[in-house]
Amino acid sequence: MKLLIMGPPGAGKGTQAEKIVKEFGITHISTGDMFRAALKNQTPLGLKAKEYMDKGELVPDEIVIAMVEERISAPDCAKGFLLDGFPRTIPQAEALDKKLAEMGITLDGVINIEVPREELIERLTGRRVCRQCGATYHVKFNPPKVEGVCDACGGELYQRSDDSLETVSNRLDVYEAQTAPLKDYYAKTGLLKNIDGTKSIEEVFASIKNALQK
Ligand code: AP5
Ligand code: ZN
Repeated sequence: MKLLIMGPPGAGKGTQAEKIVKEFGITHISTGDMFRAALKNQTPLGLKAKEYMDKGELVPDEIVIAMVEERISAPDCAKGFLLDGFPRTIPQAEALDKKLAEMGITLDGVINIEVPREELIERLTGRRVCRQCGATYHVKFNPPKVEGVCDACGGELYQRSDDSLETVSNRLDVYEAQTAPLKDYYAKTGLLKNIDGTKSIEEVFASIKNALQK
Protein backbone atom coordinates (compact mmCIF):
# COMPACT_ATOMS: atom_id res chain seq x y z
CA MET A 1 0.00 0.00 0.00
CA LYS A 2 1.40 3.39 -1.04
CA LEU A 3 -0.48 6.28 0.49
CA LEU A 4 -0.40 10.02 1.08
CA ILE A 5 -2.05 11.78 4.01
CA MET A 6 -2.71 15.49 3.71
CA GLY A 7 -4.69 18.20 5.48
CA PRO A 8 -4.02 21.45 7.31
CA PRO A 9 -1.70 21.69 10.33
CA GLY A 10 -3.48 20.07 13.29
CA ALA A 11 -5.95 18.06 11.17
CA GLY A 12 -4.65 14.88 12.82
CA LYS A 13 -2.28 13.59 10.11
CA GLY A 14 0.35 12.41 12.59
CA THR A 15 -2.26 10.91 14.94
CA GLN A 16 -3.91 8.93 12.14
CA ALA A 17 -0.61 8.08 10.43
CA GLU A 18 0.52 6.17 13.53
CA LYS A 19 -2.61 3.98 13.31
CA ILE A 20 -2.55 3.53 9.53
CA VAL A 21 1.06 2.32 9.38
CA LYS A 22 0.35 -0.18 12.17
CA GLU A 23 -2.80 -1.46 10.46
CA PHE A 24 -1.18 -1.93 7.03
CA GLY A 25 2.40 -2.75 8.09
CA ILE A 26 3.87 0.11 6.04
CA THR A 27 6.59 2.71 6.68
CA HIS A 28 5.71 6.20 8.00
CA ILE A 29 7.53 9.03 6.25
CA SER A 30 6.82 12.38 7.93
CA THR A 31 8.86 15.29 6.57
CA GLY A 32 8.10 17.33 9.71
CA ASP A 33 9.44 14.49 11.92
CA MET A 34 12.52 14.16 9.69
CA PHE A 35 13.31 17.86 10.09
CA ARG A 36 12.75 17.71 13.87
CA ALA A 37 15.06 14.67 14.11
CA ALA A 38 17.71 16.47 12.06
CA LEU A 39 17.43 19.49 14.36
CA LYS A 40 17.77 17.31 17.46
CA ASN A 41 21.04 16.01 15.99
CA GLN A 42 22.08 19.59 15.09
CA THR A 43 22.78 18.66 11.45
CA PRO A 44 23.10 21.45 8.82
CA LEU A 45 19.74 20.29 7.35
CA GLY A 46 18.04 20.55 10.73
CA LEU A 47 19.44 23.99 11.48
CA LYS A 48 18.43 25.26 8.03
CA ALA A 49 14.89 23.83 8.36
CA LYS A 50 14.46 25.43 11.80
CA GLU A 51 14.75 28.92 10.26
CA TYR A 52 11.57 28.25 8.29
CA MET A 53 9.67 26.04 10.74
CA ASP A 54 9.86 28.54 13.62
CA LYS A 55 8.19 31.16 11.42
CA GLY A 56 5.57 28.71 10.14
CA GLU A 57 6.96 28.98 6.60
CA LEU A 58 7.64 26.05 4.29
CA VAL A 59 11.18 24.74 3.90
CA PRO A 60 12.29 25.40 0.25
CA ASP A 61 11.09 22.78 -2.25
CA GLU A 62 14.54 21.68 -3.41
CA ILE A 63 15.60 20.75 0.15
CA VAL A 64 12.43 18.75 0.92
CA ILE A 65 12.31 17.04 -2.48
CA ALA A 66 15.92 15.81 -2.25
CA MET A 67 15.29 14.50 1.28
CA VAL A 68 12.13 12.59 0.29
CA GLU A 69 13.62 11.17 -2.91
CA GLU A 70 16.39 9.62 -0.85
CA ARG A 71 14.08 8.37 1.92
CA ILE A 72 11.53 6.78 -0.38
CA SER A 73 14.25 4.71 -2.10
CA ALA A 74 15.31 3.09 1.21
CA PRO A 75 14.71 -0.67 1.55
CA ASP A 76 12.09 -0.29 4.33
CA CYS A 77 9.80 1.56 1.92
CA ALA A 78 9.54 -1.39 -0.48
CA LYS A 79 6.79 -2.94 1.71
CA GLY A 80 4.69 0.23 1.26
CA PHE A 81 4.71 3.69 2.80
CA LEU A 82 2.58 6.55 4.04
CA LEU A 83 3.83 10.01 3.14
CA ASP A 84 2.73 12.53 5.82
CA GLY A 85 3.28 16.26 5.22
CA PHE A 86 4.66 15.79 1.72
CA PRO A 87 3.89 16.99 -0.91
CA ARG A 88 2.91 20.45 0.29
CA THR A 89 3.27 22.45 -2.94
CA ILE A 90 2.49 21.74 -6.61
CA PRO A 91 6.23 21.51 -7.51
CA GLN A 92 6.66 18.90 -4.70
CA ALA A 93 3.71 16.89 -6.09
CA GLU A 94 5.16 17.01 -9.60
CA ALA A 95 8.57 15.90 -8.33
CA LEU A 96 6.92 13.03 -6.45
CA ASP A 97 5.04 11.91 -9.58
CA LYS A 98 8.30 11.90 -11.51
CA LYS A 99 10.14 9.92 -8.81
CA LEU A 100 7.36 7.34 -8.46
CA ALA A 101 7.22 6.89 -12.25
CA GLU A 102 10.98 6.27 -12.28
CA MET A 103 10.52 3.67 -9.55
CA GLY A 104 7.59 2.06 -11.41
CA ILE A 105 5.24 2.74 -8.47
CA THR A 106 1.70 4.15 -8.40
CA LEU A 107 -0.15 5.55 -5.38
CA ASP A 108 -3.13 3.64 -3.97
CA GLY A 109 -4.84 6.57 -2.29
CA VAL A 110 -4.59 10.16 -1.05
CA ILE A 111 -6.29 10.78 2.30
CA ASN A 112 -7.34 14.39 2.85
CA ILE A 113 -8.47 15.26 6.38
CA GLU A 114 -10.69 18.33 6.70
CA VAL A 115 -11.13 20.34 9.94
CA PRO A 116 -12.33 23.99 10.30
CA ARG A 117 -9.76 26.65 11.23
CA GLU A 118 -11.12 27.44 14.74
CA GLU A 119 -10.74 23.83 15.79
CA LEU A 120 -7.26 23.58 14.26
CA ILE A 121 -6.10 26.50 16.41
CA GLU A 122 -7.45 24.84 19.57
CA ARG A 123 -5.85 21.50 18.67
CA LEU A 124 -2.42 22.92 17.87
CA THR A 125 -2.10 25.28 20.81
CA GLY A 126 -3.11 22.43 23.19
CA ARG A 127 -0.89 19.77 21.65
CA ARG A 128 1.88 18.14 23.71
CA VAL A 129 4.49 15.76 22.29
CA CYS A 130 6.70 13.17 23.99
CA ARG A 131 10.38 14.18 23.87
CA GLN A 132 11.40 10.52 23.94
CA CYS A 133 9.04 8.55 21.64
CA GLY A 134 7.19 11.31 19.72
CA ALA A 135 3.69 10.25 20.86
CA THR A 136 1.15 13.08 20.55
CA TYR A 137 -1.33 14.22 23.21
CA HIS A 138 -3.75 17.08 23.71
CA VAL A 139 -4.31 18.80 27.04
CA LYS A 140 -8.10 18.57 26.58
CA PHE A 141 -8.92 16.09 23.77
CA ASN A 142 -6.36 13.38 24.47
CA PRO A 143 -4.70 14.03 27.84
CA PRO A 144 -2.01 11.74 29.28
CA LYS A 145 -2.86 9.87 32.51
CA VAL A 146 -0.31 11.94 34.45
CA GLU A 147 0.10 15.59 33.42
CA GLY A 148 3.31 16.19 31.46
CA VAL A 149 4.28 12.48 31.32
CA CYS A 150 3.98 10.14 28.30
CA ASP A 151 1.67 7.13 28.91
CA ALA A 152 3.66 4.98 26.49
CA CYS A 153 7.24 5.50 27.68
CA GLY A 154 7.24 7.81 30.72
CA GLY A 155 9.05 10.51 28.71
CA GLU A 156 8.61 14.24 29.29
CA LEU A 157 5.92 16.02 27.25
CA TYR A 158 6.74 19.37 25.61
CA GLN A 159 5.07 21.96 23.40
CA ARG A 160 6.45 22.28 19.85
CA SER A 161 8.04 25.71 19.26
CA ASP A 162 5.81 26.20 16.18
CA ASP A 163 2.60 25.62 18.20
CA SER A 164 2.47 29.19 19.58
CA LEU A 165 -0.68 31.08 18.56
CA GLU A 166 1.22 33.46 16.26
CA THR A 167 3.08 30.74 14.35
CA VAL A 168 -0.05 28.57 14.13
CA SER A 169 -1.95 31.41 12.36
CA ASN A 170 0.82 31.77 9.81
CA ARG A 171 1.01 28.00 9.24
CA LEU A 172 -2.73 27.95 8.51
CA ASP A 173 -2.37 30.87 6.04
CA VAL A 174 0.58 29.18 4.34
CA TYR A 175 -1.47 25.96 4.08
CA GLU A 176 -4.37 27.79 2.35
CA ALA A 177 -2.08 29.57 -0.10
CA GLN A 178 0.39 26.81 -0.98
CA THR A 179 -0.97 23.38 0.00
CA ALA A 180 -4.77 23.53 -0.41
CA PRO A 181 -4.41 23.65 -4.24
CA LEU A 182 -3.16 20.05 -4.03
CA LYS A 183 -6.74 18.93 -3.33
CA ASP A 184 -7.64 19.74 -6.96
CA TYR A 185 -4.39 18.23 -8.18
CA TYR A 186 -5.21 14.86 -6.57
CA ALA A 187 -8.98 15.04 -7.21
CA LYS A 188 -8.11 14.88 -10.92
CA THR A 189 -6.30 11.56 -10.39
CA GLY A 190 -9.39 9.98 -8.80
CA LEU A 191 -7.31 9.00 -5.75
CA LEU A 192 -8.54 11.68 -3.32
CA LYS A 193 -10.51 10.50 -0.25
CA ASN A 194 -12.00 13.41 1.71
CA ILE A 195 -12.36 12.60 5.40
CA ASP A 196 -14.26 14.59 8.04
CA GLY A 197 -11.59 15.09 10.71
CA THR A 198 -13.85 16.67 13.33
CA LYS A 199 -15.01 13.31 14.77
CA SER A 200 -13.19 11.39 17.52
CA ILE A 201 -9.75 9.90 16.75
CA GLU A 202 -11.26 6.38 16.49
CA GLU A 203 -14.14 7.53 14.26
CA VAL A 204 -11.76 9.32 11.90
CA PHE A 205 -9.61 6.18 11.69
CA ALA A 206 -12.69 4.07 10.88
CA SER A 207 -13.65 6.49 8.05
CA ILE A 208 -10.13 6.29 6.62
CA LYS A 209 -10.14 2.48 6.60
CA ASN A 210 -13.57 2.51 5.01
CA ALA A 211 -12.52 4.99 2.31
CA LEU A 212 -9.43 2.95 1.44
CA GLN A 213 -11.53 -0.16 0.84
CA LYS A 214 -13.58 1.61 -1.85
P1 AP5 B 1 4.63 19.04 10.17
O1 AP5 B 1 5.30 18.42 11.29
O2 AP5 B 1 4.24 18.22 8.98
O3 AP5 B 1 3.39 19.84 10.74
P2 AP5 B 1 1.95 20.15 10.18
O4 AP5 B 1 1.58 19.78 8.81
O5 AP5 B 1 1.80 21.59 10.52
O6 AP5 B 1 1.06 19.19 10.93
P3 AP5 B 1 1.05 18.94 12.43
O7 AP5 B 1 2.08 17.97 12.85
O8 AP5 B 1 1.07 20.26 13.16
O9 AP5 B 1 -0.42 18.40 12.62
P4 AP5 B 1 -1.06 16.98 12.34
O10 AP5 B 1 -2.04 17.13 11.23
O11 AP5 B 1 -0.04 15.91 12.22
O12 AP5 B 1 -1.91 16.85 13.67
P5 AP5 B 1 -1.71 15.91 14.96
O13 AP5 B 1 -2.02 14.50 14.63
O14 AP5 B 1 -0.43 16.19 15.66
O15 AP5 B 1 5.51 20.23 9.59
C1 AP5 B 1 6.11 21.19 10.42
C2 AP5 B 1 6.91 22.17 9.59
O16 AP5 B 1 7.95 21.49 8.86
C3 AP5 B 1 6.14 22.94 8.52
O17 AP5 B 1 5.49 24.08 9.04
C4 AP5 B 1 7.27 23.29 7.54
O18 AP5 B 1 8.03 24.38 7.99
C5 AP5 B 1 8.15 22.05 7.58
N1 AP5 B 1 7.78 21.06 6.55
C6 AP5 B 1 7.33 19.79 6.76
N2 AP5 B 1 7.05 19.18 5.59
C7 AP5 B 1 7.33 20.08 4.61
C8 AP5 B 1 7.23 20.05 3.20
N3 AP5 B 1 6.78 18.98 2.53
N4 AP5 B 1 7.59 21.17 2.50
C9 AP5 B 1 8.06 22.26 3.14
N5 AP5 B 1 8.17 22.36 4.48
C10 AP5 B 1 7.80 21.28 5.21
O19 AP5 B 1 -2.93 16.48 15.84
C11 AP5 B 1 -2.92 17.82 16.35
C12 AP5 B 1 -3.51 17.85 17.77
O20 AP5 B 1 -4.90 17.51 17.71
C13 AP5 B 1 -2.88 16.83 18.74
O21 AP5 B 1 -2.80 17.41 20.00
C14 AP5 B 1 -3.87 15.64 18.73
O22 AP5 B 1 -3.86 14.94 19.95
C15 AP5 B 1 -5.20 16.35 18.50
N6 AP5 B 1 -6.13 15.54 17.70
C16 AP5 B 1 -5.84 14.74 16.63
N7 AP5 B 1 -6.96 14.16 16.13
C17 AP5 B 1 -7.99 14.62 16.91
C18 AP5 B 1 -9.40 14.41 16.90
N8 AP5 B 1 -9.98 13.60 15.98
N9 AP5 B 1 -10.14 15.04 17.84
C19 AP5 B 1 -9.56 15.86 18.77
N10 AP5 B 1 -8.23 16.10 18.83
C20 AP5 B 1 -7.45 15.49 17.90
ZN1 ZN C 1 6.74 8.64 24.94
